[in-house]
Amino acid sequence: MKSQHPIGLFDSGVGGTTIWSEIHKLMPYENTIYLADSKYAPYGNRPAEEIIRLSIKNVEKLIAFDCKIIIVACNTATTNAIEVLREKFSIPFIGIEPPIKPAALQSKTKRIGVLATKGTLSSTHFNKASKNYTNTVDIIEVIGKQLVTLIEAGEIDSPKIINLLKEYTAPMIAANVDHVVLGCTHYPYLTPILRQILPSHVQITHSGEAVARQTKKVLTDNKMLDEKNEKPFYRFHTNGNARILKSLLQEYSDKIEISTLDF
Ligand code: DGL
Repeated sequence: MKSQHPIGLFDSGVGGTTIWSEIHKLMPYENTIYLADSKYAPYGNRPAEEIIRLSIKNVEKLIAFDCKIIIVACNTATTNAIEVLREKFSIPFIGIEPPIKPAALQSKTKRIGVLATKGTLSSTHFNKASKNYTNTVDIIEVIGKQLVTLIEAGEIDSPKIINLLKEYTAPMIAANVDHVVLGCTHYPYLTPILRQILPSHVQITHSGEAVARQTKKVLTDNKMLDEKNEKPFYRFHTNGNARILKSLLQEYSDKIEISTLDF
């Protein structure tokens, strides 16, 4: 696979753009193709077999676009499907899962909160990973019901979403957590509101930066980094509402291409 080939990313919708922006910040020279599978969002309430089927569909599309590496920019798809994807396809994959390790290691109160979808929190993958830390920290897990659907509808600061976030963080605050892990790539868009709701000493973390660093490392190790590309392209395809994607990516509007596509 040549270095000029694009990095592919997919998510159940617009959330993985929080990962794309970190990839772009660290490797602006890389061509990227992003698939927003908004037509089938949310993934989080679907059974694992369906999440696997949708993930395979997205990967096949990205491979047809000649991607050299695929970032599963969705915690729900990673925790339910990454093992199957790695077995089925020979392309390198980067997965995304709730970053509980750094939060657990840094926590002083020994209590951390994880906000994620039902699909992520109920996955074997997540439960295996969190078991490594439950001897040393209490993990308060809360399902972010309806959050993805509201963000997909362009609601990132509506009264409804504010009330839901108050409800979901209440048990975390009551337990005296000092870290809240955002275990869904849509949720970083809610950070400004969470910042207002959570006590100021509580750290809000997500995996965007770490994923970008890991992607760069894998590309470098495989001699697929494309630092010489002078005219990189950044393409976004959605099978849902392009308007929401455009508004979330507004700051990049002069250099990205957004189009609707049936996949
Ligand atoms: N962005 C996806 C994630 O990280 C959202 C999942 C969903 O569609 O429910 O889990």
